[in-house]
Amino acid sequence: MEAILLVGGKGSRLYPVTEHTPKPMVPTAGVPFLAHQLGRARAAGVGHVVLATSYLAEVFEPYFGDGADFGLRITYVHEAEPLGTGGAIRNAATALSCGPDEPVLVFNGDILTGLDIAALVEHHRVARADVSLHLTRVEDPSAFGLVPTDVAGRVLAFTEKPDCPEEIVTDQVNAGCYVFRRSVIATIPAGRPVSVERETFPGLLASGALLHGVVDQTYWLDLGRPAALIQASADLVRGVVPSPALPGRVGEYLILPGAHVDDGAKLLGGTVVGEGVHIAADAVVDGSIVLDGARIEAGAYVRSSLVGAGARVGSRTVLENAVIGDQAEIGGDNELLAGVRVRGRASIPDGAIRFS
Ligand code: GTP
Repeated sequence: MEAILLVGGKGSRLYPVTEHTPKPMVPTAGVPFLAHQLGRARAAGVGHVVLATSYLAEVFEPYFGDGADFGLRITYVHEAEPLGTGGAIRNAATALSCGPDEPVLVFNGDILTGLDIAALVEHHRVARADVSLHLTRVEDPSAFGLVPTDVAGRVLAFTEKPDCPEEIVTDQVNAGCYVFRRSVIATIPAGRPVSVERETFPGLLASGALLHGVVDQTYWLDLGRPAALIQASADLVRGVVPSPALPGRVGEYLILPGAHVDDGAKLLGGTVVGEGVHIAADAVVDGSIVLDGARIEAGAYVRSSLVGAGARVGSRTVLENAVIGDQAEIGGDNELLAGVRVRGRASIPDGAIRFS
C-alpha cells in the first residue's frame, strides 16, 4: 500500500520549537516524530511513503534517506511554494505508482494516534467510498473541523472550525488521516494552494461523491501546540501509545546515549533526556523533553516542559508548561509557568522572573 505524509507546514503554533526544525522532525520520545508515524504506517502494511515537503524541506532526506533503514521506500516531493494540504496531496500523488481505483493513505504529519489503519482501509474498501476519513470525538470541538455522519457512516457535512455554537452539530472531528481512491486525488486542482479540509472535501460532497467517516476512539493527539507535543512524547515513552520506533524500553523515562544524570536527580512521567544532556543532583524532571546538550542545574524543577538543545536551566529554577528555545540561558531561581515560551539564545538573569 502507498501513503502520502503531509510534512510541509510551518508549524507556527509550535514556535520557537519549529524555528529551525519542521514539526515532524521535532524529537519526540527520542526520535523525530515522523519516525513514529513511519513505523506505525509500516506496521499497517504501507510499503511506499511519499513525503510532501515544503518548510525546511532539506532536513528530511538526510535523516530518512531512501527509507530502507525504516523498512520502507520513501520518495520526497518538494513544494517550492506551500500548496496547502489539498495541493500537497495532488502534487505528491505524481510519485505514486498504484492504479486509479487503489486506496491511498494520507496522513497529517502531526497526529499521534493508535488508530487501526488497516481497519480504516478495509472499511473504505467495503463501503466503496471515494474518500474515508478517520474521525475522533473530542470534548470541545470548537477548534476543529466537524464532520457529522449518518448511521451508516456517510459524511453529511464539513464545518471547519465553527464560528458560533449553533454550528457545533457533532463532537466528531476530522482526525487528519484519510484513505483516498487514487483517481479522486486527480480531481484536486494542480499548481495552486488548496485546503483539503475547506475546499476539497466540501467540494466532493457537493458533487455527490461518497465520503465515509470512521469514528475510532483510540488514542489521538494533534501535536500542533507545545503542550500536546510534550504530552505525546511522554505517552510514547510510557507506552500509553505503542511505537515501533521508540529507541529504548517503555518506562518512566528515556535516557539517550551520552547523557549524564547525577545521583539524587529524579526523572519521571515519561521524561526524555537527550544525548549529551546533564541533569544535576536534586533536579526533578517530570513529563518533559530535554533536548540534546541541554543542562538542568541542581535543584531545578521541570514539569511538562520542553528544554531546547544546548539550553541551560539554572539552579532551583521552576519550569511548568514552558518551552525554552535552543541555546537559551535561564538563570537560577526563576519561575517560568503557564505556557511561557522563551526564544532561542535568549538570556534570563538569575531571579528575574518570579510569580510568588
Ligand atoms: P501551524 O502553522 O501551527 O498551523 O501548523 P502547520 O503549518 O503544520 O498547519 P496544520 O497543523 O494545519 O497542518 C496539518 C498538516 O498538514 C501538517 O502535517 C503540516 O505539515 C501539513 N501541511 C500544512 N500545510 C502544508 C503545505 O502547504 N504543504 C505540505 N506539504 N504540507 C502542509
